[in-house]
Order: sequence, then structure tokens, then C-alpha cells
Amino acid sequence: MSSLLERIAAIEPELIGYRRQIHQHPEPGFEEKETTRLICQVLDEANIPYHSNGDKTGVIATLTGAKPGKVVALRADIDALKQTEQTGLEFSSQVPGVCHACGHDIHTATLMGAARVLSEYRDQLCGTIRFLFQPAEETLGGSRSMIENGALIDPPVDYLLAAHTWPDMPAGSVGVRKGGMLAASDHFVITVRGKSGHAAHPHRCIDPIVIGAHIITELQTIVSRRVAPVDSAVVSIGRLTAGNVSNVIPTEAVMEGTVRTLDAGTRENIRAWMEKMVTLTAEAMGGEAQLDYEYGVPPVFCDSYIVDCVSQAVTELLGPDKLLQVPTPSMGGEDFSFYMEKAPGAFIRLGTADERPESKGALHSPTTVFNEKAIATGVAALVGTAFLLTGTGLDPLK
Ligand code: NI
Repeated sequence: MSSLLERIAAIEPELIGYRRQIHQHPEPGFEEKETTRLICQVLDEANIPYHSNGDKTGVIATLTGAKPGKVVALRADIDALKQTEQTGLEFSSQVPGVCHACGHDIHTATLMGAARVLSEYRDQLCGTIRFLFQPAEETLGGSRSMIENGALIDPPVDYLLAAHTWPDMPAGSVGVRKGGMLAASDHFVITVRGKSGHAAHPHRCIDPIVIGAHIITELQTIVSRRVAPVDSAVVSIGRLTAGNVSNVIPTEAVMEGTVRTLDAGTRENIRAWMEKMVTLTAEAMGGEAQLDYEYGVPPVFCDSYIVDCVSQAVTELLGPDKLLQVPTPSMGGEDFSFYMEKAPGAFIRLGTADERPESKGALHSPTTVFNEKAIATGVAALVGTAFLLTGTGLDPLK
């Protein structure tokens, strides 16, 4: 019996081949037909049963171990971005206006590799592994479709894990962080209603502009006075409209903005504080106001126990120098968080930087290149963590 790393090394050229095939034929959200076909082919070869994501692209696969244990879902997003690749790589996108600039081709190949390797260990495996090949992450609608189509049930998923490329870390490393990893992003509209009239007779009017100004000022106290200093949040108004002429007090003022939070509790608190500030401030000033708060993606909050399992797996299988701490959360959003509303999870980073300056560029940049070593590293991290989370232990992999 060969070790996990030997098994991964044996299939690494094929995994890089999958990655390059997907890279050359990138498909945007909910159009990943060829990518889905390739995934199904690999699952068929590994003898892993799967079902489709309803009438949408994407695949939900299930590997049942020989012994009872926990159910662990591993997720990869498979969609590309609508932009033109400018890397000059020999296997560059052949589709004008579409490319894998966020490394989702690496994620897909990594999860295909994890599926192949895990299928070879099914006799030793306790519990169940669910593979979520998810479409449309970039447009933030894919994970909801997967959940609707049974991603987290039959059997119910106990733990979730996803990996994402990260040009800020060297290839071969795995980055972890407990707690807030990515932000929730919400949108709101505040409508203030007063009573219009001549600007020379304010006592006969109720001025929604002045009420709105008070509300805006009060909203600034949410982050400065209500949110704990060690927590992070943003409340910003990006749009304010009221009135048409200088000598008329209007009936209405409308404000629109965004709230960013890293903690689910803080997110709920901010909404509640805003609601009170908006309605009571307007009422105290004789008018009325309404908050329409629209939830976007929730925050990605990494579960401590799962991060401990990732850390143990990476340290024991790849070496302690391969485990890095991600120093700060990102205020970007991720629809992996919709799964995390149903079960605890962790979102880990796979380093993709090397000596090439263009490997240290930003995600979503059309010139950024990704070191493919991240695939083998990612397979080891996913398989090792899955073995710990299911209750199988790392011994069969060594
Ligand atoms: Ni991405």
C-alpha cells in the first residue's frame, strides 16, 4: 500500500491535464456544460455515484465509506469569469471574453483529484464524503441551487470544507484562519417621508432632508460606538437623493448603502440597530422612515475544530512549514457561506505564488498565473482533513 503523497504524485500529471483542459475551455456561471461533463467522466472512472444539480450545471457526488462515521462535504466552484485572458500561457483560454482568472479550474482539478484518491481508500474510510462541484460562484447563485438540489442531505452533512487559490502565499502552502475569513455583503434602502412645502415656511413642513441627515450621522455611531473595536464592520451610504429645487422642502428622501460584516451576530445586531435608529429618529422629528434591508451573502466564518483538523492534516502529511496563518479576513464575499448556514465549515487558502511576478497578482486579474503545485497540495489537504473529520484518522494515509 502506497502512501497518500505517492498516490497523489502518481496522478498529478493527469490532474494538471484536467486543469489545463478546463482552463482552455472556460465556461461562465450556469454554462459549465463541458466542465460538468469532464467531472462526470472522472467520477464514472472512480466509480463514485452522483446526481445532477437539477436542471443546472454542477454535480453532487457521494462516496460511502466501508464503516460508519461523519459526513463531510468538499466543495469546488467550477465557473469562469467574463473577461479576456492576458497571461500568454500556452494553454490560455480559447474562448474570447471568458477565462479562469480566479483559479476555479485549479479548484475543480483539486476536487477531482480528491475524489479519485478517496475512492481508492473507500475500504478504509469511515463515514461519507460528499463532493460538491458547484456552478456560478462568481454570480453568487450557484450554492443556493446546489442546496435546493440536495447538496447537504441524504445523508445530512456534518462538516464542510472548501479551498481557494491565493496568490499572496507560496505554492505548496495551505493557509488557514479561525473565525472570520470573508465578509457578508448586504444592501439597504432607507426611505424618509415628511411633508412638503415652501422652504421659507419650514414650521409648516416636515423636512425629510434634515431627518435623513440625522439618520446618516447616527448610522456612523454603529461602527464607532456599538460594534466591538476588535470586530470589523462597514456601514456606508453610497447614494442619497431628495428634492428637485432649492426653495421647496420635498416629501421624501431616499438613501441607499451597503453593510459589510465578518460575524453573523454583528450582522444581525447592525440590522436591528439600524431599524431602531431609522424609525425612531424619524418619529422623534415628526416624520416617518422605513429600512428595507436585503441580505446578500453571509460571512464565511471558519469553525475552530475543522481548522484544527486542517492544520493537523497539513502538518502531518505535508510538513509544518506548509501550514500558514492567513493574517486578516478579506472583505470580499463568497457564496460558500450559504452552505455554512446549514453546517459548520472551513474555507482554506491554497498558495499559488512562485518566482514569476505575474503569479503574485490579484484574483480576478486577467494577467495572474497560478502555480499548479496547488493542486497536489490541495488534494492532500482535502483528503487528510476529510479522514480526520469522518473519524477515519490519518494512519491509512501514511
Ligand atoms: Ni473565486
